[in-house]
Amino acid sequence: MVTLKIQTTKVYDDCETAYNQNYPVMIEEGGSRSSKTYNILIWLIQKSLSDWDNKIIDICRKAFPSVRDTVMFDFFEILRRYNLYSENNHNKTENIYKIGNNIFRFFGLDQEQKVRGRKRNIIFINEANELNPDDYKQLNQRTEELTIIDYNPSTEFGWYYDIQTQDEVIVFHSTYKDNPFLPERIRKSIEAYKETDENYWRVFGLGIRGVSKTTIFSNWSLVDEFKGEGELLYGMDFGFNNETALVRVLYHPKGIIVDELLYKSELTSDLMIEELNKLRDSGLITYADTITGDSARPEVIQDIFKADYNIKGTRKGKDSVLRNINFLKKHKLYVTKRSINLIKELKSYKWKSDKDNRILDQPVKLNDHLIDALFYALEDKANETEFAVGSVSWT
Ligand SMILES: Nc1ncnc2c1ncn2[C@@H]1O[C@H](COP(=O)(O)OP(=O)(O)O)[C@@H](O)[C@H]1O
Ligand SMILES: [Mg+2]
Repeated sequence: MVTLKIQTTKVYDDCETAYNQNYPVMIEEGGSRSSKTYNILIWLIQKSLSDWDNKIIDICRKAFPSVRDTVMFDFFEILRRYNLYSENNHNKTENIYKIGNNIFRFFGLDQEQKVRGRKRNIIFINEANELNPDDYKQLNQRTEELTIIDYNPSTEFGWYYDIQTQDEVIVFHSTYKDNPFLPERIRKSIEAYKETDENYWRVFGLGIRGVSKTTIFSNWSLVDEFKGEGELLYGMDFGFNNETALVRVLYHPKGIIVDELLYKSELTSDLMIEELNKLRDSGLITYADTITGDSARPEVIQDIFKADYNIKGTRKGKDSVLRNINFLKKHKLYVTKRSINLIKELKSYKWKSDKDNRILDQPVKLNDHLIDALFYALEDKANETEFAVGSVSWT
């Protein structure tokens, strides 16, 4: 028997409770970074080291790439941290790891062949609100001892709420306050939602059920003038059939002021430069101001750069839209009254939903040119401070 000195959180104790009381299904519902995933993994590892023999333990979520980048990543991080990892026990092609005679298998529900017909003793379904009811039914039916589920309760309805009335299901809650390992920076960034987005605060802070809200931004108000403290930044989105959009921003951690400067379709590079020159004549921009423009149009950026404007391309990258949204949601946003088109875009900017009316963590890409320009202006700030949240993760 191996005993490890591993520090754990209440989530670990929740697993013990569910298992010792022979519950076939355990739900760990909670806010962002409440230590759910990490401590469920530690518990599974600890059990495999000390008590279990010949068990099959499956760990999954909806899509394999997210398994690989999150829960499987954490699993190996924990093993390495405690010097438990051994290359010999790791089948990297099949994503299988052995602890003693116990086998851990990692997969995504998008790997159809791996889902059907597999039996196991224990399953951990990570971010279970990505699954539909049938996915869950299939997995649960083929699990002999214990199904563990974790998620952020970001939806108003779902099978993972419906099953909670069943006798065989035990439910636990946790929030970021249950996680003493959380860096101060992340704690603060979760608490920022308290001021800016009530629904996000409920779900990701307090871990209580969200209300269906499809509008993405509600943390903004109108101001008369573009005036205040902060760093001056410009963002530009290029279009031809669509509008070319330019905003200027005063960025301060306590609040972001935005002003719409340009919103016009059918602009070639030359015409864009003309528009910039007009703005320069009115003192709304100078050659020295930093403009971040959509890197999808490098030739336009080149043209504007050659006309002496200080423009650079965006970096974007994986999950950048979500990161930008989360970043903006943590701030109070002040929009100048004259930014008529931006106000329209903010009002109509919504999350996509799927055929079951579940809200997805992607915005509807429609009428978002000024919003994109705003994201570009703030891209560097978002990259500096934002962390990836859950699936969205945000989680
Ligand atoms: N027992 C622990 N030991 C060390 N670090 C931990 C522990 N539990 C949580 N953490 C840290 O907290 C972070 C967030 O925990 P995580 O389990 O990912 O939260 P959740 O799944 O609830 O969003 C982890 O990435 C890890 O850095
Ligand atoms: Mg998690």
